[in-house]
Amino acid sequence: MEKSEIIEKVAKEIEITFKSDSSGHDWWHMYRVWKLAKRIAQKEKADLFVVELSALLHDVSDAKLNPGSNSLKEVEKILAPFGLEQSFIERIAFIVENVSFSNTLAGKVLTDKEGLIVRDADRLESSGAIGIARTFAYGGKIGRILYDPEQKPKFNDSIHYVSKDGTSINHFYEKLLLLKDQMYTKTAKEIAQKRHKFLEAYLKEFLDEWEGKA
Ligand code: NI
Repeated sequence: MEKSEIIEKVAKEIEITFKSDSSGHDWWHMYRVWKLAKRIAQKEKADLFVVELSALLHDVSDAKLNPGSNSLKEVEKILAPFGLEQSFIERIAFIVENVSFSNTLAGKVLTDKEGLIVRDADRLESSGAIGIARTFAYGGKIGRILYDPEQKPKFNDSIHYVSKDGTSINHFYEKLLLLKDQMYTKTAKEIAQKRHKFLEAYLKEFLDEWEGKA
């Protein structure tokens, strides 16, 4: 089977799996990470097949979405029909296991260039206009309030990311605004700068409107 055909088939399966999610991790998140990772990979001259497959699969074992799941089992289940080498499947599973933000907090190390590109693309999804939309969608889903000036942001608290404590605006300070310094590739760093400026402008407007100043 052609590589492009495998990618299309995996994309179809991921579309079905993530169709009904409303936490900001729906199919269209996978779609955007896929497209963005591909763009970065082309600029960075990386292995497109590895990047595209890992991008599509990157949330199949996410702790928030699929608690207690095993990356290798989830990736094997989807890639098994295509007759790919076991070592190749394991490489994709390792990337999937290590891409998420919470895994980084737990201290796991990803050194694979293709994996780092997928991580860059996934992190960029938390910045810019899309990042803002996803922050409020996820916050609403877990019962977070929009904002409370009395509550201060908390840093480096991995449990905090999945609890309803805190506010969506605090999440900007706890995660979104830190992302521009967490990119691996030059291409992603450039995209992150642009998205970061948009976040800052949005926050300023939000806080001004909060006090009736804008
Ligand atoms: Ni993701």
